[in-house]
Amino acid sequence: MEKYTTLVPLLTLLICTLLQFTVLASKTSSPNLQPQFPCNLPHNLYPFCNTSLPLSTRSQSLLSLLTLPEKISYLCNNFSGIPRLGIPPYQWWSESCHGIATNGPGISFNGSIKSATMFPQVLNSAASFNRSLWFEIASAISVEGRAMYNNGQAGLTFWAPNINIFRDPRWGRGQETPGEDPLAVSSFAVEFVKGFQGEYWGKEREIGDGYFRKKRLVEKEGDDDDGFLMLSACCKHFTAYDLEKWGNFSRYSFNAVVTEQDMEDTYQPPFKSCIQQGKASCLMCSYNSINGVPACASGDLLQKVRNDWGFKGYITSDCDAVATIFEYQQYVNTAEDAVADALSAGVDINCGTYMLYNTESAIGQGKVKQGDIDRALMNLFFVLFRLELFNGDPLNGMFGRLGSQHVCTKEHQRLSLEAAKQGIVLLKNNDNFLPLNKDFVSSLGIIGPGANSTSQLAGGYSGVPCNAKTYVEGLQSYIKKTTYVGGCLDVACESNSKFDEAVLVAEASDYVVLVVGLDLTQETEDCDRVTLLLPGKQMELVSFVSSISKRPIILVLTGGGPLDVSFAKGDSRIASILWVGYPGEAGGRALAEVIFGDDNPGGKLPMTWYPESFTNIPMNNMKMRADPSCLYPGRTHRFYTGKAVYGFGYGLSYTNYTYKILSAPSSLNLLMKVGASLRRLYQTKVEIGYVAIDELSCETLMFNVRVSVTNVGHMNGSHVVMLYSKSFTTIEGAPIKQLIGFSRIHTVAHKSTYTSFIIDPCAHLSLADEQGKRILPLGEHVIMLEDLEHSLVIDI
Ligand SMILES: *[C@@H]1O[C@H](CO)[C@@H](O)[C@H](O)[C@H]1NC(C)=O
Ligand SMILES: *[C@@H]1O[C@H](CO)[C@@H](O)[C@H](O)[C@H]1NC(C)=O
Ligand SMILES: *[C@@H]1O[C@H](CO)[C@@H](O)[C@H](O)[C@H]1NC(C)=O
Ligand SMILES: *[C@@H]1O[C@H](CO)[C@@H](O)[C@H](O)[C@H]1NC(C)=O
Ligand SMILES: *[C@@H]1O[C@H](CO)[C@@H](O)[C@H](O)[C@H]1NC(C)=O
Ligand SMILES: *[C@@H]1O[C@H](CO)[C@@H](O)[C@H](O)[C@H]1NC(C)=O
Ligand SMILES: *[C@@H]1O[C@H](CO)[C@@H](O)[C@H](O)[C@H]1NC(C)=O
Ligand SMILES: *[C@@H]1O[C@H](CO)[C@@H](O)[C@H](O)[C@H]1NC(C)=O
Repeated sequence: MEKYTTLVPLLTLLICTLLQFTVLASKTSSPNLQPQFPCNLPHNLYPFCNTSLPLSTRSQSLLSLLTLPEKISYLCNNFSGIPRLGIPPYQWWSESCHGIATNGPGISFNGSIKSATMFPQVLNSAASFNRSLWFEIASAISVEGRAMYNNGQAGLTFWAPNINIFRDPRWGRGQETPGEDPLAVSSFAVEFVKGFQGEYWGKEREIGDGYFRKKRLVEKEGDDDDGFLMLSACCKHFTAYDLEKWGNFSRYSFNAVVTEQDMEDTYQPPFKSCIQQGKASCLMCSYNSINGVPACASGDLLQKVRNDWGFKGYITSDCDAVATIFEYQQYVNTAEDAVADALSAGVDINCGTYMLYNTESAIGQGKVKQGDIDRALMNLFFVLFRLELFNGDPLNGMFGRLGSQHVCTKEHQRLSLEAAKQGIVLLKNNDNFLPLNKDFVSSLGIIGPGANSTSQLAGGYSGVPCNAKTYVEGLQSYIKKTTYVGGCLDVACESNSKFDEAVLVAEASDYVVLVVGLDLTQETEDCDRVTLLLPGKQMELVSFVSSISKRPIILVLTGGGPLDVSFAKGDSRIASILWVGYPGEAGGRALAEVIFGDDNPGGKLPMTWYPESFTNIPMNNMKMRADPSCLYPGRTHRFYTGKAVYGFGYGLSYTNYTYKILSAPSSLNLLMKVGASLRRLYQTKVEIGYVAIDELSCETLMFNVRVSVTNVGHMNGSHVVMLYSKSFTTIEGAPIKQLIGFSRIHTVAHKSTYTSFIIDPCAHLSLADEQGKRILPLGEHVIMLEDLEHSLVIDI
């Protein structure tokens, strides 16, 4: 991030504060063999330590024992502890986007656990469209996180997943998200949180080597909100956060102007699912403002999460996002006002020190009510109790047996490889050039500035991988005779001084794999791209190499953000294109397995790949819907009216599949299942052409769509079936199409598989009107499966 030296001084200061955090944390976290814990002898007799009492009683007991300064000390991620009650310090900030990551000061790799499994970056796992994979990954991360906690190397509260919609292809953190589609992102959020918090595992589920068996503390039908937590997950960044630093805009002060319609059907659905279905125990409010109000001061939005969505966890600010309310957004006039606004809006803890230092004076000035502080603490304690932090020695607790032997296990390594393979997307494969038969490859030239570096594999928010293998290592394990050169000095590829070596390798090799694309020097936190083209002279390198190689080349694209590779798409000298993104520590092996046909790729793009001309659109324009009157093309597959380089959901494989829709209703009568009282109401809807979904009894309207998929090729394969719908409504802002279901299924060569989708018309066939109200259009809807269309008429 040193590249960005033009930041205004205050921003630099904020960043330094945070960087300092990390440095201090590393120094202070010496290799403890055990975490410090409250309720240790002789401090175990307080009622808050008594595990027989209800959590609310215990929380209340703890609260009642605290002085005001002690209460305020809880409002900061680096809690300093209360020695007189035997409560040790606690660092709330740990990170685990796609593996235990060093970004949070709660994590240290300096104990006896030196590394943790690095799964593919989220965008790449998302490309698998495999829910059980997402769940498994989160579960594995959670096991490793608990093990590290037991070893004194991690906290219990993690700030993942990042579930903002990947709205603009330039976004530096799009890689951390599950992509652009609200349904897919919501599904990811639910699986991640369930897997990570561990609430939904059956009693018999085995963890790691099977040594540890999980059991349930609280058996309560239908409501897991106060059951134990293995770890706490956090839905972030709430909300409409997806711009780092672009033009004159910075995330710290950006005001996202969002319509009610976009809010309801794009920005909020992942958060709603994360809270309601995932039952996440934390929500993080973002830096930006939404329609003029900083997210962390937005009582309307935050209260809605608690009251309407039933959220019971704690709300943290993003780091220094309370300070920014005053210092950047100048939304208020003093530090005290910022603290008061955040607390009264519903923020419970501040990542940073602003509340720590300004709450007392805010109370003095009558701006903060004690009641808001007590509420905040009750929310924080509730989560800590659920994590069993106050149950005495964690090593005697339910998860106490997890230790270093559960980190970097063979099983997790295998899962990481599995995930990397499932996420690879085959974008082009002229004349079935791939897979290569290794017996017929006499020599392999590998070219590309990042191809021999493990640091290229992980993407943002990473830790120390267990056993990372580069692309070069992966390919070398298949072909002995390989030659590797960078071709460019680095990924930025500003000079062509290394092209000569690339030419030599290209000329001399039987086959050529060229690895280009992005890395974190091009896209990362606090850094958006300005172009969708390959960085620097990479495009020249590709053209150069492909023009002189013996055969057409295999082009491998790295990085999260979409690339405009139109030139390569149409170039017959480039036989195949694979997107590997940031495939995690097993990425080298995964790529090699795909290239040599030990794996049949089945990943699909989780976001639209736009042409470079898309960068003419201001990134700060949050509108999803196209506006022809000002040549605004709209965003994502649901609204983008332009031509994509590669569309959302695109991805080839080494076989072909054909589909049949076996059963789906062709009409749906909303009146059929309602009582007489509603009939009259409905009759009035014919003219307006829709019914508001809160007037419908949605459960009675659900139906099944059964489909068959036939693998007509010669290779077994896993394949993502995506079901879309569109309606012929004239309602303003209706999407071009929407994803209503997806399922990854395995189909053996020359055989068929059957799968079915449960469609809830209220959720799947509805849209948001301009007031942000969900409505179900009447008339014809079309259910689409690749090029099949099935008509469904909804009437009353
Ligand atoms: C571990 O400790 C070493 C030396 O004490 C330090 O340089 C390094 O940054 C630390 N690493 C982590 C991940 O904390
Ligand atoms: C814990 O609470 C239970 C239930 O109220 C009570 O019977 C028990 O005596 C308490 N234990 C201690 C050590 O105070
Ligand atoms: C956290 O606070 C303690 C004092 O309680 C301090 O010693 C430590 O350096 C702080 N750590 C970070 C990461 O700021
Ligand atoms: C950024 O600010 C400068 C100076 O105020 C202005 O000239 C320029 O047009 C702005 N750029 C954008 C992209 O808004
Ligand atoms: C690849 O990287 C490894 C480790 O950095 C290095 O030892 C090796 O020489 C490199 N290989 C080539 C062909 O550059
Ligand atoms: C799949 O079908 C396309 C179009 O018919 C064809 O060009 C391609 O070779 C087929 N792929 C395989 C692996 O059979
Ligand atoms: C394809 O699947 C079938 C049925 O499971 C299995 O018998 C066969 O070995 C598989 N083929 C390959 C190449 O894995
Ligand atoms: C989905 O992921 C799971 C977990 O890795 C794997 O076992 C399963 O085979 C995958 N399903 C398909 C169809 O690829």
